Amino acid sequence: MSAAKGGIIRRTSGDYMGMLATVINAVAMQEALEHMGLDVRVQSAVEIKEVCETYIHRKAIRHLEKGRIVIFAAGTGNPFFTTDTAATLRAIEIGADLIVKATKVDGIYDKDPHKFEDAQKIDVMGYNEALIGNIEVMDDTAISLAKDNKLPIVVCNMFKKDNLLHVIKDQQGVFSMVK
Ligand code: GTP
Repeated sequence: MSAAKGGIIRRTSGDYMGMLATVINAVAMQEALEHMGLDVRVQSAVEIKEVCETYIHRKAIRHLEKGRIVIFAAGTGNPFFTTDTAATLRAIEIGADLIVKATKVDGIYDKDPHKFEDAQKIDVMGYNEALIGNIEVMDDTAISLAKDNKLPIVVCNMFKKDNLLHVIKDQQGVFSMVK
């Protein structure tokens, strides 16, 4: 049993630990992308100024205008908010066209595809349907925020080569969309 599940680590501390872990991941991702010749900035919602920039909305926009990739780390900086919610919030703040949830499943199914052979992938689903259906790939807070701001959500499998490219090219069948 993990320390968090055993009740040793309280939720608030656990969430802050998680936020710090995303900063480590963001710096690793920055290094990997820069190694490929891309221009990348990391902005953290929790100030760790020796490591990376602190999140400043207007500065993030300037980076994007200059063609840089911006990695938003440390969630919203608040416990009890998931990374999905943080990603949705930042996507809305920067005026993104869509949010891509790259995960281990290749879309949203009408029933568990691991348990039911006849499970059907749903290509397009409404926000309300996603909320009522309690889809597991994204939490309700994130879906509600996306719904209120008319931000489409794409769910795709990050382990399949070129999937993000397929999403950008709108190649049907490789993802599900909530809109
Ligand atoms: P311009 O304003 O377009 O020049 O943007 P820039 O990001 O190239 O310039 P800036 O001088 O702000 O940043 C230079 C480098 O320092 C970039 O890699 C930033 O990510 C990094 N940097 C900027 N502010 C901070 C900070 O507060 N802490 C850390 N650790 N790095 C920072």
